[in-house]
Amino acid sequence: MDTIVYKVSLEEISQNVIDEAREILKSGGLVAFPTETVYGLGGDALNNQASEKIYAAKGRPSDNPLIVHIAEVEAVYELAENVSDKARMLMEAFWPGPLTIIFDKKNVVPYETTGGLDTVAVRMPSHPVAMKLIKDSGVYIAAPSANTSGRPSPTVAEHVIEDLDGKIEMILDGGPVGIGIESTIVDVTGTVPTILRPGFITKHMLEDIVGEVAIDRALVEVDKNLKPKAPGMKYTHYAPKGELTIVESKDKKGVTEDVIARINELAKSKMNEGYKVGIISTTETHDRYNADYVINIGNRTNDITVSARLYGVLREFDSLAVEYIYSEGFENDDLGYAIMNRLLKAAGHRVVIV
Ligand code: TXA
Ligand code: MG
Repeated sequence: MDTIVYKVSLEEISQNVIDEAREILKSGGLVAFPTETVYGLGGDALNNQASEKIYAAKGRPSDNPLIVHIAEVEAVYELAENVSDKARMLMEAFWPGPLTIIFDKKNVVPYETTGGLDTVAVRMPSHPVAMKLIKDSGVYIAAPSANTSGRPSPTVAEHVIEDLDGKIEMILDGGPVGIGIESTIVDVTGTVPTILRPGFITKHMLEDIVGEVAIDRALVEVDKNLKPKAPGMKYTHYAPKGELTIVESKDKKGVTEDVIARINELAKSKMNEGYKVGIISTTETHDRYNADYVINIGNRTNDITVSARLYGVLREFDSLAVEYIYSEGFENDDLGYAIMNRLLKAAGHRVVIV
């Protein structure tokens, strides 16, 4: 299959391009598009064959449910049952935006889309291209991140091309995304809203709207027997090809001289053994490191500069065929918590404390 790639200007989204994308979606084909979090791989959420194509293109296990993207709040009532007051308050506060909400599903949503679950994940993205695509196509768009299963999520169209060229009908290139890590997922089917995947919308932000919010225990405890409530969280996602280790100071506050020294020591010893070594640095510490490749991930005082580049940096180390990667840790609060969640998964929880 030839994959058509169109550059889309955010100021003036071409109607012809959107019309072409609509035809593809309506006939059961797949279109990758930018959202404010990561690029999504879209298909008609109510067409079970489109969902099956999504799994095939990604090489993704079909028990891992998809998120349904909508452009108007009314859509929730067509897709979901038992929409609670708390859910309504969260929709009101955070949509359009990087929050996915889990509801009981209605029959119109095929089990192919929900990975066999009786619940459905719904999100209203704020990205103008995503919005226009959903509105104009008149379909609800099931969209996982547009990467091959197991690779870091795509934050620019080039990442999507790398993974899915020749496997899907169209890619809409809207440039780099803003947030860079996937949406926060909150389950509102129980009494206490529960975070299944941390993201840009933090626990504090949710609590300000609905009071008590819990975190899925499988996120907090590194216990292989605990089954995460978001099936996707159990897979070794986000993994770079090289072996990633995070070096943190024992008080977990910022980066200490000991952290810098240990990262340099670990890098040097692997280079002496003949391996290709990379270091993930920050603007504040970039000049302090020595390795084959030292890549600055962003500014420690501004978390979103780090989240925006995280997956791109992991992919860069892949393309450089780096075998060992060492990274500083980040403060474990708010967006930093989501960054550490992804970084720890990418590292297979390999952490050195100094
Ligand atoms: O930011 C995002 O959410 C991006 C963009 C494209 O919107 N999408 C995304 O989709 O990250 P995906 O498929 O890569 O991740 C969806 C996650 C998976 O961990 C999946 O298991 C979980 O959501 N999920 C989906 N439906 C669920 C459900 N009914 N119950 C629990 N978890 C669910
Ligand atoms: Mg994904």
